[in-house]
Amino acid sequence: MLNWDDTPKTATQPAPSAPTKVAPPPMHADSTVAGATGLEDLEMGANRIRVDDKKIINCRADLNQLVPFKYKWAWDKYLDACNNHWMPQEVGMSADIAMWQDPQGLTEDERTIIKRSLGFFSTADSLVANNLVLAVYRHITNPECRQYILRQAFEEAIHTHAYQYIIESLGLDEAEVFNMYREVPSIHDKAAWALPYTQSLGDPMFQTGTPEDDQRLLRDMIAFYVVFEGIFFYVGFVQLLSFGRRNKMMGTSEQIQYIMRDEAMHMNFGIDVINQIKIENPHLWTAEFQQQALDMIKEATELEIRYAHDTMPRGVLGLNASMFNEYMKFIANRRCSQIGLKPLYPGATENPFPWMSEVLDLKKEKNFFETRVTEYQTGGALSWD
Ligand SMILES: [Fe+2]
Ligand SMILES: [Fe+2]
Repeated sequence: MLNWDDTPKTATQPAPSAPTKVAPPPMHADSTVAGATGLEDLEMGANRIRVDDKKIINCRADLNQLVPFKYKWAWDKYLDACNNHWMPQEVGMSADIAMWQDPQGLTEDERTIIKRSLGFFSTADSLVANNLVLAVYRHITNPECRQYILRQAFEEAIHTHAYQYIIESLGLDEAEVFNMYREVPSIHDKAAWALPYTQSLGDPMFQTGTPEDDQRLLRDMIAFYVVFEGIFFYVGFVQLLSFGRRNKMMGTSEQIQYIMRDEAMHMNFGIDVINQIKIENPHLWTAEFQQQALDMIKEATELEIRYAHDTMPRGVLGLNASMFNEYMKFIANRRCSQIGLKPLYPGATENPFPWMSEVLDLKKEKNFFETRVTEYQTGGALSWD
């Protein structure tokens, strides 16, 4: 344990030797290519950064200066996300534990849904986080957006923490749950669908700068922000929130509400970034690329519908798998229109779960979020007492 009275232990340390001059690493071979850190070339007395120098991708201006803001929406999302801070341990789980341990507490079908959902989500948030910090972050060359991405990365860690906390509270077999993405086909198929999109960008040699490579980044953004966070999470969200709507597993349901609020913001941020890349680089948004994006969304929607059938072969909690056919097509249309694509399923205009939009507008949930969020907003001052 740290004790502030401890004095630094210097007696056994060797005396400092004279600093040796280390040759700086070589500069980037091609100075016209944007660097990942903005520190590739720190020019003394260079012109101050102007708003017009900033670009979402392939920016050659200094990446270490947050202001002047160009993309105020990204900064505002960062502030909103900080105001929504929460931690999994604040949610009481004792009623859930009692219900899980009571043989009469839940049906076998209900238990299957909970275990499969945790199986998918417990590794999904790590996949998203890895894509974010190892692939996307390097190629989004704007400090406001990076500020939000750093916050999002922490939120993904909180989500993985939340799933681990639920799994541990309920006493589930951790190895069984965390391995479902390698052992349960419908969970595996969703994770396996997303992986190829992050792999080329995660290659340290990969750089944006040509239309083909910029399209690769755009494809990865669509795969993770629109499909993974905007389609693949939604059957699980509806299923787990349906427990709470029936006064079952209230702690788990509450955790999912917090997570869904964060995820909706992640997706909206990603959609804003995609649309901004389109504005700045209209040559990337070709008819062929749009068709690829539509094919990706269609393929993903079909996987998510299959996942719904696999996790609930029988009707449960007032839900049945065919309701999810309609719901996922409705959601897919919504995602298409958010990035400027035509609807994939013109007939799917009704949302069979209108309560999902109410849950997303969490300001309506009085004593639920207001108390905790307010605590964070006012509880930041340090007290030494
Ligand atoms: Fe997440
Ligand atoms: Fe997310």
